Amino acid sequence: MSRLLIAALLAVSTPLAFAQAQKAPAAYEPSVGQEGKDVVWVPTPQIVVDKMLDLAKVTKDDFVMDLGSGDGRTVITAAKRGARAMGVEYNPDMVELSKRNAQKAGVGDRATFVKADLFETDFSKATVITMFLLPDINLRLRPKILDMKPGTRVVSNTFTMGEWKADETAELGAGGNGSCNESWCTALFWIVPAKVAGTHKLPQGELTLKQEFQMLSGTFRTEGKTLAIANGRMRGEEISFKAGGKDYRGRVSNGKVELK
Ligand SMILES: C[S@@+](CC[C@H](N)C(=O)[O-])C[C@H]1O[C@@H](n2cnc3c(N)ncnc32)[C@H](O)[C@@H]1O
Repeated sequence: MSRLLIAALLAVSTPLAFAQAQKAPAAYEPSVGQEGKDVVWVPTPQIVVDKMLDLAKVTKDDFVMDLGSGDGRTVITAAKRGARAMGVEYNPDMVELSKRNAQKAGVGDRATFVKADLFETDFSKATVITMFLLPDINLRLRPKILDMKPGTRVVSNTFTMGEWKADETAELGAGGNGSCNESWCTALFWIVPAKVAGTHKLPQGELTLKQEFQMLSGTFRTEGKTLAIANGRMRGEEISFKAGGKDYRGRVSNGKVELK
């Protein structure tokens, strides 16, 4: 190629390439505390994300949904554990950012993101729900969560579910094991309890239960005696209680109690 031709090509292509580089949009950078529809964006510290997924015992058999998924870190971490995971996020820029983050992490096939309002999203198919929202939002979601399949696991960073006390709490901040040196370092875990309130006629006797979330009280009429129930509890479909000094355990399926 003649020198003249090379010079001519360079003269045309260099300004073009320069102009294209100038036009490339800057990568979207979220800022902590930025407005969100119902909650601002603050990321969960990675060590807390890990703990939340540990508490929920996430495996490849799970379908994890993060309500308000931010930069996608919880969804991506769950996908790295082999689970199918979906983030629901209202901010479209955050959705695109999460998709890029999932691709970079090599889990773009298992980690998906939708641009949607979490209050208008059907999350009933999830086996694990993760959240870092606000106490009043958790309370608005609570009836829907309590209607999910018994045994569904729920984890929240820091914010509670009102009178539905957590089944387990892990404090990773200064007040706990100190492994988290940022803000928002408490992982809370619940298991959706099966509904068992009412009277159950069993081979062992008649069980009458009152239920407040996972806590049970009531009586057990057995061998001609009516015994008060202590330490009554549901853990998903598993039931346990004490009556007359004896420990009882069993399962509840379709509202039917079966004691071992
Ligand atoms: C505190 S951040 C938590 C982000 C992420 N789950 C985490 O733990 O790192 C809450 C996120 O919820 C999003 N959000 C707020 N209101 C929402 C709504 N109604 N529907 C979906 N996302 C929402 C915000 O944009 C923000 O990204």
